[in-house]
Amino acid sequence: MKMLAIYSIKGGVGKTASAVNLAALASQAGYRVLLWDLDPQAATTFYLRAKPKVRGGVDKLVKGKASFDKVIRTSETPGLDLLPASFGSRELDHLLEDRKLSRLRKILKPVHDDYDLVILDCPPSISTLSEHVFSSADALLVPVIPTTLSLRTLEQLREHLDDVDHACPVWPFFTLADRRKKLHLDVMATLSEDWPLMMTTTIPYASAVERMGLERAPVTQFARSSAAARAYRGLWQELEQRL
Ligand SMILES: Nc1ncnc2c1ncn2[C@@H]1O[C@H](COP(=O)(O)OP(=O)(O)OP(=O)(O)O)[C@@H](O)[C@H]1O
Ligand SMILES: [Mg+2]
Repeated sequence: MKMLAIYSIKGGVGKTASAVNLAALASQAGYRVLLWDLDPQAATTFYLRAKPKVRGGVDKLVKGKASFDKVIRTSETPGLDLLPASFGSRELDHLLEDRKLSRLRKILKPVHDDYDLVILDCPPSISTLSEHVFSSADALLVPVIPTTLSLRTLEQLREHLDDVDHACPVWPFFTLADRRKKLHLDVMATLSEDWPLMMTTTIPYASAVERMGLERAPVTQFARSSAAARAYRGLWQELEQRL
């Protein structure tokens, strides 16, 4: 069971859109995928048409007492299951405070053999929860809008991970990129030099992705031949080679 976290300190950079699309592509490729919505905003849960509530409560989940049959939902995409967000995910942060690191991996132990890939959609912050993400995940996939500020946030993440001793590899990729903007092109060229693990696929700014909220489905399903769907397919292929 590989665990991939879609993470960024910054909000609104395309984490949720990427988590949903990549999870759908992985399941289409035959992987048994669990998408865990760790964000109390519950956008992933909404996109997959599920209700934002963990039956039995988050505390049971953290204590290892939850029955996964009740907690995990199937989605309309075959092979893709969802561990929904809960409005109590703030509570999740609190509950993890006294726990040893890598708790997220431990929580999923009962379903370890049921999934090939777990994708975590993370909220944008450095918190107790993110420390557990860093210590549990095999890699952090970090969406980056090609602007100067995003570069700074990525550096901040690198500095933070250098300070903690459970760091996992960081794989940045560009999202919401506009190749007509010189700044975007300049930043993309610079960053690729500094980050050798940078993914080579770029996700363009595309209105099809914005429509995910209306369609409540992965873009790869309702706009199969759009530029965005094509880009996400490219990103998934690259990821699959690294997993
Ligand atoms: N490639 C894209 N092209 C156009 N719009 C996009 C793209 N990716 C994401 N968006 C839009 O940008 C907004 C933020 O995207 P998303 O919710 O995926 O980001 P996020 O990083 O998960 O945000 P948060 O930090 O709030 O969880 C959404 O309205 C989404 O539809
Ligand atoms: Mg999100």
